[in-house]
Amino acid sequence: MDALSCLSLLNRSSYDDCKKAADWLRNRTKQRPRVAIICGSGLGGLADLIDDKTIFPYEDIPGFPTSTVAGHAGQLVFGTLQGQACVCMQGRFHFYEGYSMQDVTYPVRIFFLLGVEILIVTNAAGGLNGSYKVGDIMVIKDHINLPGFSGQNPLVGKNDERFGVRFPCTSDAYDRNLRSLAIQTAHAEKCGSIVQEGVYCMVVGPTFETIAECNLLKKLGADAVGMSTVPEVVVARHCGLRVLGLSLITNKAVTDYDSNEKTNHEEVLATTCLRAQDLQRLVRHIVMKI
Ligand code: HPA
Repeated sequence: MDALSCLSLLNRSSYDDCKKAADWLRNRTKQRPRVAIICGSGLGGLADLIDDKTIFPYEDIPGFPTSTVAGHAGQLVFGTLQGQACVCMQGRFHFYEGYSMQDVTYPVRIFFLLGVEILIVTNAAGGLNGSYKVGDIMVIKDHINLPGFSGQNPLVGKNDERFGVRFPCTSDAYDRNLRSLAIQTAHAEKCGSIVQEGVYCMVVGPTFETIAECNLLKKLGADAVGMSTVPEVVVARHCGLRVLGLSLITNKAVTDYDSNEKTNHEEVLATTCLRAQDLQRLVRHIVMKI
């Protein structure tokens, strides 16, 4: 057996593993979701709004990793949101927790095999754009896959054409129609004043960025920085899902050496608590119109 075949045996996101998990879920719920939602830190409350719930703790699902970070539950919630069949990941997997890129993105491939067409990802992010305020919601227009630059791309390795092509395009990663729907909906829901549209940059973490790193990311064209989302979006696009990404700006990234601000997880969670309702309302209304 060659080295690549050995690697794919170890890789839990092989087609057979994903299919096993998808079949396992399909046999236990009548729901056939069209939309999947991945909830970011402290944003799992979205799943509570789902009607006719069927809940699967991650530890019960074949091959599923378990979630460890504070602010994350660990369950897949099937049901309907505003009448739309949905599946919601309450708690996601992060590369900084020690999961591989394949672990982090395993659920997305299961969603694809379940027939999901649209992925909505939410996250908490630090604001780099000077005009952003804490509590703003950024519709992600594009991303910078910084871990990808150093080889940490979930699609590295043997390609399985049943998921997608060897060299997927990502210049259209965030669906234009879904982005404009999100912005229109924000205005209709009277939260237009807090909605931004910008570029999300993924860093691995778990350290928050240094001042020099924040200044570098700004120069690279990033408006917000966070430790998630990009691997899931890459895998979602690989298998043809349409993606909408929403970042809650939980803190302002520190870019000034005279500042006494120190980014910390408590601040991230506190802002999330304050704004979670607005973000949930926005997602609910977007889902209704999808
Ligand atoms: N940096 C990275 N990740 C984050 C931040 C940040 O400032 N805020 C929330 N997640």
